Amino acid sequence: MAGKVFFSVTMSLDGFIAPEEHMGDPDAQRWMAQWMELQQWIFPLRFFQENLKLGEGGEEGRDNDIVRETFERTGASVMGKRMFDLGEQAWPEEAPFHTPAFVVTHEKRDPWERPGGTTFHFVNDGIETALDQAREAAGDRDVRIAGGGATILEYVNAGLIDEFTIALSPLLFGSGIRLFEGVDAGRVALEPVRAEPTQRVTHLTYAVRER
Ligand SMILES: NC(=O)c1ccc[n+]([C@@H]2O[C@H](COP(=O)([O-])OP(=O)(O)OC[C@H]3O[C@@H](n4cnc5c(N)ncnc54)[C@H](OP(=O)(O)O)[C@@H]3O)[C@@H](O)[C@H]2O)c1
Repeated sequence: MAGKVFFSVTMSLDGFIAPEEHMGDPDAQRWMAQWMELQQWIFPLRFFQENLKLGEGGEEGRDNDIVRETFERTGASVMGKRMFDLGEQAWPEEAPFHTPAFVVTHEKRDPWERPGGTTFHFVNDGIETALDQAREAAGDRDVRIAGGGATILEYVNAGLIDEFTIALSPLLFGSGIRLFEGVDAGRVALEPVRAEPTQRVTHLTYAVRER
C-alpha cells in the first residue's frame, strides 16, 4: 500500500520557516542566530545527536519521540534546490536522510551518493515527477516533502499533500520565508488531527482535504 505524502517543519509563531535570505548577505551571522533560535528545540534531542553522529546521550521525551517517528516513517524525501544548497554546505558527510532524496531543480547534475544511505537525485521535470520517483523509492513508507517554503507550497497548491505537522516555535521573526505565502486557500481545507504542546514547541498536525 502506498504511503502518505507529508511535510513537517518548524515555524515561528508569526508564520516563518526561515529568516530572510542570506546568500551573499553580510548579515549571515544574524541569519544563523535566528535559524538556531527557531530550531533550538531540536538540537538537544537524543535522536538528533545520534542521527548526526554528534555523540551519545541527549534528551528523551515527547519531542524526541516525534522527531524519531518522523524519521522512521520517511522512505524518501523531496526538497527544493535552495534547501539542498544550504544543506550541501551544512550537512555532515553522512547526510541525515539515510534514504533517497529528490531535489527539484533546473540544474542538471548526476546523482550524489553519500555514505550512510542518502543519495540525492536531481529532478528537472517538475514536482509530480519528483514525487513519483520518491513514492517508488519509499515503497510502503511515507514521502516527506522536506522543504523549503517554495517547494512545499507547490505541493500544497497542487493538492498533493495528505498531511502536515508544524512545530510551532514561540518566537517572532517579523520577516523571512513565510510558509503559506501564495497558498491557494480556496482549494485547501484542513482537518485537525493532533495538537501536542511540549516545554519548547507545540506540535500541530493537520490532514489536508480538497475544498
Ligand atoms: N523551518 C524548517 O523546518 C525548514 C525546513 C526546510 C527548509 N527550510 C528553509 O527553507 C529555505 C529554503 O526554502 P525556499 O522557499 O527559499 O526554497 P526551496 O523550496 O528550498 O527551493 C526553491 C528552488 O527549488 C527549485 N525548484 C522548485 N520547484 C521547482 C520546479 N517545479 N522545477 C524546477 N526547479 C524547482 C528552484 O531552484 P533552481 O531554479 O535553482 O533549480 C527554486 O528556486 C531555507 O532557508 C531552509 O533553511 C526550513
